[in-house]
Amino acid sequence: MGANWLKDAIFYEIYPQSFYDTNGDGIGDIQGIIEKLDYVKSIGCNALWINPWYDSPFVDAGYDVRDYYKVATRYGTMDDAEELFRVAHEKGIHVLIDLVPGHTSQEHAWFRESSKEHPCEEYAHRYIWTENAFCRGDGMPFIGGESPRDGTYIINFFKCQPALNFGYTQINEPNWQMPIDAPAPMATREAIKDVMRFWLAKGCDGFRVDMADSLVKNDGNDKPGTMEVWKDITTDVRKDYPDMALVSEWNHPASALHCGFDMDFCLDWYGNSYSRLVRYYQIDKNGAPIRDESYFKADSNADPMGFLADFLPKYNARGDGLYCMITGNHDCKRTSFNLDEAERKLAFAFLLTMPGAPFIYYGDEIGIRYRWLPTKEGGYHRTGTRTPMQWDESENLGFSTAPADKLYLPVDPQPGHSTVAAQEADPASMLNHIRSVLALRKSQPDLGNYTSFEVVHAKEGDRLFAYKRGELLLCVNPGLNSETLTLDANYDLLHSFGSAEIADKTLSIAPQTLTVLKPAR
Ligand code: GLC
Ligand code: CA
Repeated sequence: MGANWLKDAIFYEIYPQSFYDTNGDGIGDIQGIIEKLDYVKSIGCNALWINPWYDSPFVDAGYDVRDYYKVATRYGTMDDAEELFRVAHEKGIHVLIDLVPGHTSQEHAWFRESSKEHPCEEYAHRYIWTENAFCRGDGMPFIGGESPRDGTYIINFFKCQPALNFGYTQINEPNWQMPIDAPAPMATREAIKDVMRFWLAKGCDGFRVDMADSLVKNDGNDKPGTMEVWKDITTDVRKDYPDMALVSEWNHPASALHCGFDMDFCLDWYGNSYSRLVRYYQIDKNGAPIRDESYFKADSNADPMGFLADFLPKYNARGDGLYCMITGNHDCKRTSFNLDEAERKLAFAFLLTMPGAPFIYYGDEIGIRYRWLPTKEGGYHRTGTRTPMQWDESENLGFSTAPADKLYLPVDPQPGHSTVAAQEADPASMLNHIRSVLALRKSQPDLGNYTSFEVVHAKEGDRLFAYKRGELLLCVNPGLNSETLTLDANYDLLHSFGSAEIADKTLSIAPQTLTVLKPAR
């Protein structure tokens, strides 16, 4: 069981550069997050995940860290960070920052030292360097010909992100691959522990851990080496910070939730369960979604089986951790790309009443549109998901007072864009819908983060899906036809998003409805 505060944590993910700009330079900042904490609370969230705010050349939007101990000037100062932790805590909000442990920027001082012809001993093997400049990477992506050092080095993601050396499980190249307990990989571990302790001492409550599965190389599917490293890191850091919470970008609870993480994400990877719900489509030659067989697409034929085939084994492997649903994140197209508002309302009602700690991606709660935009800071198709938050109808939709051409990314220029101000005033808005879903979640202990989930009705070719959370029975009808479900006991309606009724132990459920039933007493 993780930190006690996780039992009712509901997270809001903030992409800091696009949230709220307080000094008119066109880029969101930490003071902007502080100013909007009451808004975050008003949605029903009580925890944050903030994407990387470290000093960085921003070739991958900050996932290329140049200095783990410095806040990027465009976001503010260390004082601002400490103020955010303090003010958030006063308001009952916990804060996770993003930890990028697997790689740094090529501009990081460690890497600059290690690429010298004669690097100092401390950093010579902080990264994975091969024997000489003509050496291949043993199946891993590598870069050569760029450094005075006579070697190639392994990268984790983009070229700008050399992989830190946590060692190898299976060693094919003994001249340059090291076991995980060799001195250099052990020193890398200690360096990451130091970064964690530094930020926990400043006041953060834990970390979202970037590419948590990527540390040890040649580590197979279940990643025993990476698990061993995380066990060591988390055990050590928790000695000083027992309430630290960690969520992994791993999407493999059988590993992640058995090596020290409290939470793992259900992510949009490899056509898996999340995508079966909301983004299971092909795209035509213009990039538009076609043949959308997402479960929540009203006119699709999808049953819940594709979702369950991937979700259930992962959920069942969670041990005493949390397998967490997201509305979206900064890496995938917003669901507004392919789902209309009614479809998204239902999908979010489902996602936000599932087990695990829910994560709302900023702007999903007002239905910000996905737009095709030229790439920014390594975003590519992700760029259109990272556009400025839309607050009101003032200049730049209230995001910033900078001239429009100075904004981090352009605000939505089209009529029909949503804003927080307009949605506050409309009882039927997405924002107020999300609020009512989260209010229901909070009012029902059976909808809590750790409460069980059990399938009651799911069949091939059948749109209807019924399942239990604790004693509650939930039923979803994502399609365009009314459906009925025979109940095995007497239930009362507790709450419906859409409409449903019960007569003679038969539930009738209207199109695009999620209903929650409680046992009749
Ligand atoms: C993770 C991040 C993504 C980043 C990548 C490399 O997937 O979520 O935004 O580009 O790791 O750090
Ligand atoms: Ca700013």
